[in-house]
Amino acid sequence: MTIPILNEKEIVAKLQTQKNPFFSEYYAFYSSWFGGIVKDPCMMLLPIDDHMVHRGDGVFEAMKAVARSVYLMDEHLHRLCNSAEKIALKLPVDIKKIKAIVLETLRAANQDNAIIRIFLSRGPGGFSVNPYDSIDTQLYVIITKLGAPPPEKYTAGTVIGKSHIPSKSSWMAQVKSCNYLSNVLMKKEAVDRNLDFVISIDAEGHITESATENILIVDQNHTLIHPPLDSILKGTTMVRTCELAREHGMTTAVKAISLNELQTAREVIITGTGLNVLPVVKFEDTTIGNGTPGPIAKKLQELMLHDIAKSGRGTAF
Ligand SMILES: Cc1ncc(COP(=O)(O)O)c(C=O)c1O
Repeated sequence: MTIPILNEKEIVAKLQTQKNPFFSEYYAFYSSWFGGIVKDPCMMLLPIDDHMVHRGDGVFEAMKAVARSVYLMDEHLHRLCNSAEKIALKLPVDIKKIKAIVLETLRAANQDNAIIRIFLSRGPGGFSVNPYDSIDTQLYVIITKLGAPPPEKYTAGTVIGKSHIPSKSSWMAQVKSCNYLSNVLMKKEAVDRNLDFVISIDAEGHITESATENILIVDQNHTLIHPPLDSILKGTTMVRTCELAREHGMTTAVKAISLNELQTAREVIITGTGLNVLPVVKFEDTTIGNGTPGPIAKKLQELMLHDIAKSGRGTAF
Protein backbone atom coordinates (compact mmCIF):
# COMPACT_ATOMS: atom_id res chain seq x y z
CA MET A 1 0.00 0.00 0.00
CA THR A 2 1.23 3.50 -0.81
CA ILE A 3 -0.41 6.23 1.16
CA PRO A 4 -0.34 9.50 -0.78
CA ILE A 5 1.46 12.51 0.65
CA LEU A 6 -1.08 15.26 0.04
CA ASN A 7 -0.51 18.87 -0.83
CA GLU A 8 -2.80 21.73 0.23
CA LYS A 9 -4.74 21.78 -3.06
CA GLU A 10 -5.41 18.03 -2.90
CA ILE A 11 -6.59 18.29 0.70
CA VAL A 12 -9.04 21.10 -0.09
CA ALA A 13 -10.30 19.16 -3.13
CA LYS A 14 -10.73 16.02 -1.00
CA LEU A 15 -12.51 17.92 1.78
CA GLN A 16 -14.96 19.32 -0.74
CA THR A 17 -15.99 15.83 -1.80
CA GLN A 18 -16.49 14.59 1.78
CA LYS A 19 -20.06 13.55 2.50
CA ASN A 20 -21.54 13.79 5.98
CA PRO A 21 -25.31 13.51 6.51
CA PHE A 22 -25.08 16.13 9.29
CA PHE A 23 -23.51 18.81 7.09
CA SER A 24 -26.92 20.24 6.11
CA GLU A 25 -27.45 21.04 9.82
CA TYR A 26 -24.20 23.02 10.24
CA TYR A 27 -24.84 26.69 9.64
CA ALA A 28 -21.76 28.69 10.68
CA PHE A 29 -18.48 28.23 12.53
CA TYR A 30 -16.24 30.85 14.09
CA SER A 31 -12.65 29.92 14.78
CA SER A 32 -10.14 32.20 16.46
CA TRP A 33 -7.48 29.97 14.90
CA PHE A 34 -8.78 30.84 11.41
CA GLY A 35 -9.60 34.37 12.54
CA GLY A 36 -13.05 34.34 10.95
CA ILE A 37 -16.36 32.63 10.19
CA VAL A 38 -16.72 29.60 7.94
CA LYS A 39 -20.02 28.63 6.34
CA ASP A 40 -18.87 25.60 4.34
CA PRO A 41 -19.31 22.60 6.72
CA CYS A 42 -16.41 20.68 5.21
CA MET A 43 -14.07 23.48 6.31
CA MET A 44 -15.27 23.53 9.92
CA LEU A 45 -12.03 22.05 11.22
CA LEU A 46 -9.85 22.13 14.33
CA PRO A 47 -6.07 21.78 14.67
CA ILE A 48 -5.37 18.25 15.95
CA ASP A 49 -2.70 19.55 18.33
CA ASP A 50 -5.26 21.71 20.14
CA HIS A 51 -5.18 20.26 23.66
CA MET A 52 -8.97 20.22 23.60
CA VAL A 53 -8.78 17.56 20.87
CA HIS A 54 -6.17 15.23 22.33
CA ARG A 55 -6.71 15.77 26.08
CA GLY A 56 -10.23 17.15 26.44
CA ASP A 57 -8.57 20.28 27.83
CA GLY A 58 -11.26 22.90 27.31
CA VAL A 59 -14.71 23.98 28.41
CA PHE A 60 -17.91 24.54 26.50
CA GLU A 61 -21.48 25.80 26.57
CA ALA A 62 -24.63 25.00 24.63
CA MET A 63 -27.45 27.53 24.36
CA LYS A 64 -30.39 27.96 22.04
CA ALA A 65 -31.66 30.66 19.74
CA VAL A 66 -35.41 30.79 19.24
CA ALA A 67 -36.99 33.31 16.87
CA ARG A 68 -33.67 35.16 16.48
CA SER A 69 -33.10 35.54 20.18
CA VAL A 70 -30.62 33.66 22.38
CA TYR A 71 -32.37 32.42 25.51
CA LEU A 72 -30.53 32.96 28.82
CA MET A 73 -27.37 33.99 26.96
CA ASP A 74 -25.80 35.83 29.90
CA GLU A 75 -26.45 32.89 32.22
CA HIS A 76 -24.71 30.54 29.79
CA LEU A 77 -21.78 32.93 29.33
CA HIS A 78 -21.49 33.28 33.07
CA ARG A 79 -21.31 29.48 33.42
CA LEU A 80 -18.71 29.37 30.62
CA CYS A 81 -16.52 31.82 32.56
CA ASN A 82 -16.97 29.81 35.75
CA SER A 83 -15.94 26.61 33.98
CA ALA A 84 -12.90 28.34 32.45
CA GLU A 85 -11.91 29.75 35.82
CA LYS A 86 -12.18 26.32 37.48
CA ILE A 87 -9.63 24.86 35.05
CA ALA A 88 -7.46 28.02 35.07
CA LEU A 89 -8.12 28.69 31.40
CA LYS A 90 -7.61 32.34 30.59
CA LEU A 91 -10.22 33.89 28.30
CA PRO A 92 -8.78 34.76 24.87
CA VAL A 93 -10.86 37.97 24.80
CA ASP A 94 -13.24 39.44 27.38
CA ILE A 95 -16.75 38.08 27.76
CA LYS A 96 -18.33 41.07 25.97
CA LYS A 97 -16.21 40.30 22.92
CA ILE A 98 -17.12 36.60 23.11
CA LYS A 99 -20.78 37.61 23.19
CA ALA A 100 -20.31 39.90 20.17
CA ILE A 101 -18.55 37.09 18.25
CA VAL A 102 -21.38 34.66 19.01
CA LEU A 103 -24.01 37.16 17.85
CA GLU A 104 -22.09 37.91 14.66
CA THR A 105 -21.69 34.19 13.94
CA LEU A 106 -25.45 33.84 14.44
CA ARG A 107 -26.09 36.62 11.95
CA ALA A 108 -23.84 34.79 9.48
CA ALA A 109 -25.78 31.56 10.11
CA ASN A 110 -28.98 33.49 9.31
CA GLN A 111 -31.39 31.03 10.93
CA ASP A 112 -34.29 31.88 13.25
CA ASN A 113 -33.68 28.87 15.50
CA ALA A 114 -30.39 27.20 16.25
CA ILE A 115 -28.21 25.64 18.89
CA ILE A 116 -25.01 27.50 19.66
CA ARG A 117 -22.00 25.72 21.11
CA ILE A 118 -19.08 27.75 22.38
CA PHE A 119 -15.74 26.05 23.02
CA LEU A 120 -12.82 27.57 24.85
CA SER A 121 -9.84 25.34 24.25
CA ARG A 122 -6.37 25.30 25.82
CA GLY A 123 -5.17 25.76 22.25
CA PRO A 124 -2.68 24.25 19.83
CA GLY A 125 0.78 23.23 20.99
CA GLY A 126 2.54 19.91 21.31
CA PHE A 127 0.82 16.64 22.05
CA SER A 128 1.78 16.33 25.69
CA VAL A 129 -0.62 16.49 28.61
CA ASN A 130 1.10 19.68 29.75
CA PRO A 131 -1.27 22.64 29.30
CA TYR A 132 1.75 25.00 29.27
CA ASP A 133 2.74 23.41 25.95
CA SER A 134 -0.15 25.16 24.21
CA ILE A 135 0.18 28.49 22.45
CA ASP A 136 -2.97 30.25 23.62
CA THR A 137 -6.64 29.73 24.42
CA GLN A 138 -8.78 29.43 21.30
CA LEU A 139 -12.46 30.21 20.82
CA TYR A 140 -14.66 28.15 18.55
CA VAL A 141 -18.38 28.80 18.03
CA ILE A 142 -20.52 26.38 16.06
CA ILE A 143 -24.12 27.12 15.10
CA THR A 144 -26.22 24.11 14.14
CA LYS A 145 -29.83 23.02 13.77
CA LEU A 146 -31.96 23.13 16.90
CA GLY A 147 -33.58 19.75 17.47
CA ALA A 148 -36.39 18.96 19.90
CA PRO A 149 -37.75 15.80 21.51
CA PRO A 150 -40.78 14.30 19.69
CA PRO A 151 -44.08 15.86 20.91
CA GLU A 152 -45.19 12.56 22.52
CA LYS A 153 -42.37 12.86 25.05
CA TYR A 154 -44.29 15.83 26.49
CA THR A 155 -47.74 14.28 26.19
CA ALA A 156 -46.96 10.66 27.17
CA GLY A 157 -43.86 11.29 29.27
CA THR A 158 -40.38 9.79 29.35
CA VAL A 159 -38.94 6.61 30.82
CA ILE A 160 -35.65 6.78 32.68
CA GLY A 161 -33.26 4.33 34.32
CA LYS A 162 -30.37 4.09 36.71
CA SER A 163 -26.93 4.53 35.19
CA HIS A 164 -24.05 2.20 35.95
CA ILE A 165 -21.56 4.94 35.13
CA PRO A 166 -20.11 6.34 38.36
CA SER A 167 -21.23 9.89 39.03
CA LYS A 168 -18.61 12.61 38.73
CA SER A 169 -16.74 14.03 41.66
CA SER A 170 -18.26 17.23 42.99
CA TRP A 171 -15.54 19.34 41.40
CA MET A 172 -15.82 17.75 37.94
CA ALA A 173 -19.62 17.89 38.01
CA GLN A 174 -19.50 21.66 38.30
CA VAL A 175 -17.23 22.17 35.27
CA LYS A 176 -18.72 21.93 31.79
CA SER A 177 -15.46 20.55 30.49
CA CYS A 178 -14.69 18.93 27.15
CA ASN A 179 -13.97 15.76 29.11
CA TYR A 180 -17.52 14.40 28.77
CA LEU A 181 -16.71 10.70 28.52
CA SER A 182 -18.93 9.68 31.42
CA ASN A 183 -21.78 11.77 29.96
CA VAL A 184 -21.23 10.10 26.57
CA LEU A 185 -21.35 6.65 28.16
CA MET A 186 -24.53 7.53 30.03
CA LYS A 187 -26.15 8.56 26.76
CA LYS A 188 -24.95 5.32 25.17
CA GLU A 189 -26.42 3.37 28.06
CA ALA A 190 -29.79 5.12 27.60
CA VAL A 191 -29.82 4.48 23.84
CA ASP A 192 -28.70 0.84 24.25
CA ARG A 193 -31.44 0.23 26.84
CA ASN A 194 -34.07 2.05 24.80
CA LEU A 195 -34.62 4.54 27.61
CA ASP A 196 -35.06 8.28 27.25
CA PHE A 197 -32.46 9.07 29.91
CA VAL A 198 -30.38 7.40 32.59
CA ILE A 199 -29.45 9.19 35.79
CA SER A 200 -26.39 8.69 37.90
CA ILE A 201 -26.40 7.99 41.60
CA ASP A 202 -23.65 9.14 43.96
CA ALA A 203 -21.82 7.06 46.58
CA GLU A 204 -24.45 7.94 49.22
CA GLY A 205 -27.28 6.72 46.99
CA HIS A 206 -28.52 10.18 46.02
CA ILE A 207 -29.52 11.06 42.50
CA THR A 208 -27.32 13.53 40.65
CA GLU A 209 -28.19 14.21 37.00
CA SER A 210 -28.56 12.77 33.53
CA ALA A 211 -26.01 12.91 30.68
CA THR A 212 -26.77 16.53 29.76
CA GLU A 213 -29.95 17.20 31.74
CA ASN A 214 -30.96 17.94 35.32
CA ILE A 215 -33.53 16.00 37.29
CA LEU A 216 -36.05 17.38 39.79
CA ILE A 217 -38.85 15.88 41.83
CA VAL A 218 -42.16 17.18 43.14
CA ASP A 219 -42.59 15.66 46.59
CA GLN A 220 -45.82 14.77 48.42
CA ASN A 221 -46.00 18.37 49.74
CA HIS A 222 -45.91 19.69 46.17
CA THR A 223 -42.41 21.11 46.68
CA LEU A 224 -40.21 21.20 43.59
CA ILE A 225 -36.78 19.89 44.63
CA HIS A 226 -33.43 19.61 42.89
CA PRO A 227 -30.17 18.08 44.17
CA PRO A 228 -27.51 20.28 45.80
CA LEU A 229 -25.42 22.29 43.35
CA ASP A 230 -22.16 20.73 44.52
CA SER A 231 -23.10 17.39 42.95
CA ILE A 232 -24.40 18.53 39.55
CA LEU A 233 -23.93 21.05 36.77
CA LYS A 234 -26.02 24.10 37.61
CA GLY A 235 -28.45 23.87 34.71
CA THR A 236 -29.68 27.19 33.36
CA THR A 237 -33.04 25.57 32.54
CA MET A 238 -33.35 24.04 36.03
CA VAL A 239 -32.60 27.39 37.69
CA ARG A 240 -35.06 29.26 35.47
CA THR A 241 -37.72 26.55 35.95
CA CYS A 242 -37.45 26.97 39.72
CA GLU A 243 -37.69 30.77 39.40
CA LEU A 244 -40.82 30.42 37.26
CA ALA A 245 -42.27 27.95 39.74
CA ARG A 246 -41.74 30.39 42.63
CA GLU A 247 -43.17 33.29 40.60
CA HIS A 248 -46.30 31.16 40.24
CA GLY A 249 -46.68 30.37 43.90
CA MET A 250 -44.87 27.07 44.16
CA THR A 251 -42.36 26.20 46.85
CA THR A 252 -38.93 25.04 45.74
CA ALA A 253 -36.10 23.46 47.69
CA VAL A 254 -32.57 22.17 47.24
CA LYS A 255 -32.00 18.84 48.93
CA ALA A 256 -30.23 15.51 48.42
CA ILE A 257 -32.78 13.14 46.85
CA SER A 258 -32.65 9.42 47.57
CA LEU A 259 -33.74 6.81 45.05
CA ASN A 260 -36.69 6.02 47.28
CA GLU A 261 -37.74 9.68 47.27
CA LEU A 262 -37.52 9.70 43.49
CA GLN A 263 -39.63 6.54 43.21
CA THR A 264 -42.32 7.84 45.57
CA ALA A 265 -42.40 11.41 44.22
CA ARG A 266 -45.65 12.89 42.91
CA GLU A 267 -43.76 13.91 39.78
CA VAL A 268 -40.29 13.60 38.31
CA ILE A 269 -39.10 16.24 35.87
CA ILE A 270 -36.13 16.52 33.49
CA THR A 271 -34.81 19.92 32.37
CA GLY A 272 -32.25 20.99 29.80
CA THR A 273 -31.57 23.52 27.08
CA GLY A 274 -32.61 21.24 24.23
CA LEU A 275 -35.84 20.01 25.79
CA ASN A 276 -37.01 22.63 28.32
CA VAL A 277 -39.21 20.70 30.82
CA LEU A 278 -40.06 17.03 30.27
CA PRO A 279 -42.19 14.78 32.49
CA VAL A 280 -40.93 11.36 33.63
CA VAL A 281 -43.54 8.60 34.02
CA LYS A 282 -41.36 5.61 34.82
CA PHE A 283 -38.06 4.89 36.55
CA GLU A 284 -36.85 1.33 35.82
CA ASP A 285 -39.87 -0.80 36.89
CA THR A 286 -41.43 1.87 39.11
CA THR A 287 -44.31 3.95 37.83
CA ILE A 288 -44.04 7.61 38.84
CA GLY A 289 -47.31 9.06 40.17
CA ASN A 290 -50.16 7.57 38.16
CA GLY A 291 -47.94 6.87 35.16
CA THR A 292 -48.99 9.90 33.13
CA PRO A 293 -47.37 13.35 32.92
CA GLY A 294 -48.21 15.33 36.04
CA PRO A 295 -49.85 18.77 36.13
CA ILE A 296 -46.77 20.54 37.49
CA ALA A 297 -44.48 19.31 34.70
CA LYS A 298 -47.07 20.42 32.15
CA LYS A 299 -47.48 23.81 33.78
CA LEU A 300 -43.73 24.39 34.03
CA GLN A 301 -43.24 23.49 30.36
CA GLU A 302 -45.98 26.00 29.43
CA LEU A 303 -44.36 28.67 31.59
CA MET A 304 -40.97 27.93 30.06
CA LEU A 305 -42.29 28.21 26.48
CA HIS A 306 -43.96 31.49 27.38
CA ASP A 307 -40.74 32.69 29.02
CA ILE A 308 -38.72 31.87 25.88
CA ALA A 309 -41.23 33.67 23.65
CA LYS A 310 -42.13 36.66 25.79
CA SER A 311 -40.03 37.26 28.88
CA GLY A 312 -37.34 39.44 27.39
CA ARG A 313 -34.75 36.99 28.76
CA GLY A 314 -33.39 36.53 25.25
CA THR A 315 -30.63 38.43 23.43
CA ALA A 316 -31.71 39.39 19.91
CA PHE A 317 -29.35 39.12 16.96
C1 LIG B 1 -24.04 17.50 32.83
C2 LIG B 1 -25.15 18.44 32.52
N1 LIG B 1 -26.15 18.61 33.41
C3 LIG B 1 -27.17 19.44 33.17
C4 LIG B 1 -27.25 20.16 31.99
C5 LIG B 1 -28.42 21.07 31.75
O1 LIG B 1 -28.00 22.41 31.69
P1 LIG B 1 -28.82 23.49 30.86
O2 LIG B 1 -30.20 23.52 31.41
O3 LIG B 1 -28.08 24.75 31.07
O4 LIG B 1 -28.81 23.02 29.45
C6 LIG B 1 -26.24 20.02 31.04
C7 LIG B 1 -26.30 20.75 29.79
O5 LIG B 1 -25.56 21.63 29.53
C8 LIG B 1 -25.15 19.14 31.31
O6 LIG B 1 -24.16 18.98 30.43
